Amino acid sequence: MEFSNRKVIVVSNRLPIAIFKNESGGWEIKPGTGGLVTALEPIVRKSKGLWIGWSGYGENAPSDEILADYGEKNNFKLVPVDITEKEIAQYYRGFSNKSIWPLFHDMLGHFSYNFTNLNTYKDVNRKFAEKVAEYAGENDIIWIHDYQLICVGRYLRELGIKRNLNFFLHIPFPSYDLFRRFPHNREMIEALLSYNHIGFQTAIDRRNFISSVKWLLPDTITTANRRQTKIQYEGNETIVGYYPISIDFNEFNEASKSREAADAAWYLRENTNVDILALGLDRLDYTKGIPERFLAFERLLEKYPDTVGKISFLQIVVPSRLNVREYQDLKDELDSLVGRINSRFSIHGWVPIHYQFRTLNRIQLIGHYKAIDIALVTPLRDGMNLISKEYCASTSDNRGVLILSEFAGAAAQLSKGALMVNPYDFDQTADALYQAFNMDHEEKARRMRLMRSEIRRNDLNRWVRWFFREEYRQ
Ligand code: G6P
Repeated sequence: MEFSNRKVIVVSNRLPIAIFKNESGGWEIKPGTGGLVTALEPIVRKSKGLWIGWSGYGENAPSDEILADYGEKNNFKLVPVDITEKEIAQYYRGFSNKSIWPLFHDMLGHFSYNFTNLNTYKDVNRKFAEKVAEYAGENDIIWIHDYQLICVGRYLRELGIKRNLNFFLHIPFPSYDLFRRFPHNREMIEALLSYNHIGFQTAIDRRNFISSVKWLLPDTITTANRRQTKIQYEGNETIVGYYPISIDFNEFNEASKSREAADAAWYLRENTNVDILALGLDRLDYTKGIPERFLAFERLLEKYPDTVGKISFLQIVVPSRLNVREYQDLKDELDSLVGRINSRFSIHGWVPIHYQFRTLNRIQLIGHYKAIDIALVTPLRDGMNLISKEYCASTSDNRGVLILSEFAGAAAQLSKGALMVNPYDFDQTADALYQAFNMDHEEKARRMRLMRSEIRRNDLNRWVRWFFREEYRQ
């Protein structure tokens, strides 16, 4: 991707790093993980740009020099935004993760709201905007990311910044019927219309956003073509498009052929000792449908007794947001569900569910994808879900089945090859598991090839190109 010597400034809630205190009390910094980092870090690095975000710590955060040092070694600048413990509670755990996150994922049951949290959310967004205004040069490309930072554009405008502002929402945008429940929804829509270019993951998200704009701001003028809609509101023009985020296909494909990945895969199979191994891999989150998946697996064993002793399900849950109560409750629920199902079905030498609460490094991750027969990616709602794409890209021998929720953004691209399920329907998921359990190699290969060629064609580079095509048109 050519940036014509323009610096790219990425603004996201977290910096693209993981920071730890080591045993001797010093700070240690490692590259961050997750879709956003993998997607954007190469772009920032290539343009010698900068990344503005939160270090993950409150008042005791590491000094700016330590971060600057890490950035310099990696050829780009890291600019931390200082957030206090109180702000973390109200902006991050509060408004971002108890109000926006559940509502945008259609989970009203987990939604809560209070005015103080909203105000702190806005204050912190203003802090981010001030950092952007301080560091951005006239010619830089400014790209703001995700639901934690919806109001940054509006504050940049208040600070007098007139240049192009880009925004990408990584999570779904809810239907108007849900969004109308959101207090201050009109204010949020107006904040979004401060940007010149907004990217959503799927056509459905874009449609939902446009219909909220039309209901809440009937005076806007919209003109649409197949992929993009132009919205004019109070003298500002916003282009709204959808650009499904993806992965670096070649990186996963090549890594899956490495010796290390083969060893990691062998190790996993040696230690599970079962004919068919299914895998679930998710951040701890109630949107991922993990309890529902356990129940569907239980249904499989009840409904199809010939699977007992022959198939095991390995669920890896990556710790996340543990200081939000809903996430601790979910962890407790998972612990007790696994215990119940395993005590009901286990026989000598075979355990139905293996459950691990931990992170995997890159090679272990690819080794897991390589080793398994079935991937169960069944979120109740998900903006995209990159695990499904990583799994296919790592299955270079085409021997594997993807079971995918119709409510993951990835469904729009992978439904031709995956076995599609409604994750609330345990019977349907159990039937899909049974179909995968019995599927012959030809059908597996045919389906996997379809998905792999889709991901290869629409990979990470394409996502960036599609998004920036607009930037260069203006
Ligand atoms: C989702 C969000 C990201 C977020 C990530 C991890 O993928 O879209 O913006 O960074 O989850 O969540 P955390 O709260 O740990 O940053």
